[in-house]
This record gives sequence, structure tokens and C-alpha cells, in this order.
Amino acid sequence: MVKLPQHIAIIMDGNGRWAKDKGKLRIFGHHNGVLSVRDVVEGAVELGIKYLTLYTFSSENWNRPKLEVMAIMELMVSTIHKEIETFMKNNVRLNAIGDLEMLPPKCHSELINAINKTSVNTGLVLTLALSYSSRREILQAVKRIAGKVQKGELKIEDIDEETFENNLYTSGMPNPELLIRTSGEYRISNYLLWQIAYAELYFTSKLWPDFRKEDLYEAILDYQKRERRFGMTSEQVN
Ligand code: FPP
Repeated sequence: MVKLPQHIAIIMDGNGRWAKDKGKLRIFGHHNGVLSVRDVVEGAVELGIKYLTLYTFSSENWNRPKLEVMAIMELMVSTIHKEIETFMKNNVRLNAIGDLEMLPPKCHSELINAINKTSVNTGLVLTLALSYSSRREILQAVKRIAGKVQKGELKIEDIDEETFENNLYTSGMPNPELLIRTSGEYRISNYLLWQIAYAELYFTSKLWPDFRKEDLYEAILDYQKRERRFGMTSEQVN
């Protein structure tokens, strides 16, 4: 039986190169990257995908030139503001993971406002990873769990994978079955390290601003051709 992945995670990469190839500033690439986000979200909604998680801004991205960081933040504020209506129409629930307190106040409040407004929606859960670092997420989970042990609320022998997952930002979400990265880079870049343990990885040389829903479908078709064995034999899973 061909199955749709419930959760797709994407590393949107190549905006800067796309713009440079056209002799434009990097931010032009980010603006066009938003058009890809729109199209891919629409495609995911049409297919009935339950979770889509986009690597929008990593903790490391704060080290980019100040002007680019500011421009991305402004783009995010205006995009989120503009898209609320579309989210409501398409039953999309917005969610965010990462060190959100690091975001500029305007960006943070616009995001929280959209998350609250769309919280009634029951369709696609669109998660933006913002100021996100997977190692930091894991460390934070360790600290939280250690705190519970210290307070006597949890016994060390009761710590299992479920306890751990419940303390990640992605608590309550299924793990992604498919991870897509654009722009021909073969890296995970500190993204959902725990969660992608069994994900199928799909790499494409397309730069993110060129990526469209058809490319998402292609990645899903590729995923459906693969046999997921989870360490078992082919006979066991068929
Ligand atoms: C990666 O390309 C892209 C980013 C770090 C920013 C992505 C942000 C957007 C597409 C805006 C999305 C907004 C919303 C609201 C979802 P890069 O700059 O690393 O490209 P390069 O590798 O060619 O330099």
C-alpha cells in the first residue's frame, strides 16, 4: 500500500545563491523563497499531509550580516500577517519551535498572534523552526528531565524515549518520515536530530525559490518507492 508521510520536514536552502545567480541581493532570494513556501503549503494541504515543518531560521543564522537578519525578520512579520487569512481558509494551524524569545518583539508578537488565531484549525500543522538548534533543544530536554529527577518527580529508571520526546519542542507531534533538503547540499545542519532517526532523506539540487508543489510530490513519490524496514528484514515488513 502506498502511504503518505504524516510529517514532512524541509530544509529550505539556496535562497542566497538563487539571488546571486540573478545578480540580485540575497534578500531577493528570501522574498522569492516565500512564494515557494506558499506553494508547498498549498500542495501539502491539497494532499492532506498532517504536519509540515520548515527550517526557517537557525540559531546559527543570527551570525549573518545584521542587515540580512533584519530583512528576514521583517519579511517573516509581513508574511505571517498576510497569510493568516489563507491559513484560516485552508484550516492550517501555525506552530513554531525554537528559541522564540530571541526573536525581535514585533516578530515574536506577530507570530504568537497568528499561532493563537489559527489554534482552532484542525488541518495541516505548519511548524516554523525559528532560532532553532536541535542540539540546544536536546540539551534543554536533558535539563528539564534532570530537574524533575532532582525534585524527586521522576526516577532515573523511568526515563525512556517517550519521556525524552515529551520534553522536546516537538512534543505531541509524530516524527517526520521524510526530510527534504534543497540546493544540492547533503547536510542536516542541526535540524531535528532526534526526530529524524528513521526519516527517509531526500536531496534535490533545486534551489529553494525554484521549489514548487510538484517538487514536493516528486519527493513523496520517491519516498513511497522506498522500503522502510526499521532494522527488520524485507520479509518482515512486507
Ligand atoms: C536559506 O537560504 C534560507 C533561509 C535561511 C531563510 C529562509 C526564509 C524564508 C524562505 C522566508 C520564509 C518566511 C516564512 C514566513 C516561512 P540561504 O540564505 O542559506 O541560501 P544560500 O545557501 O544560497 O546562501
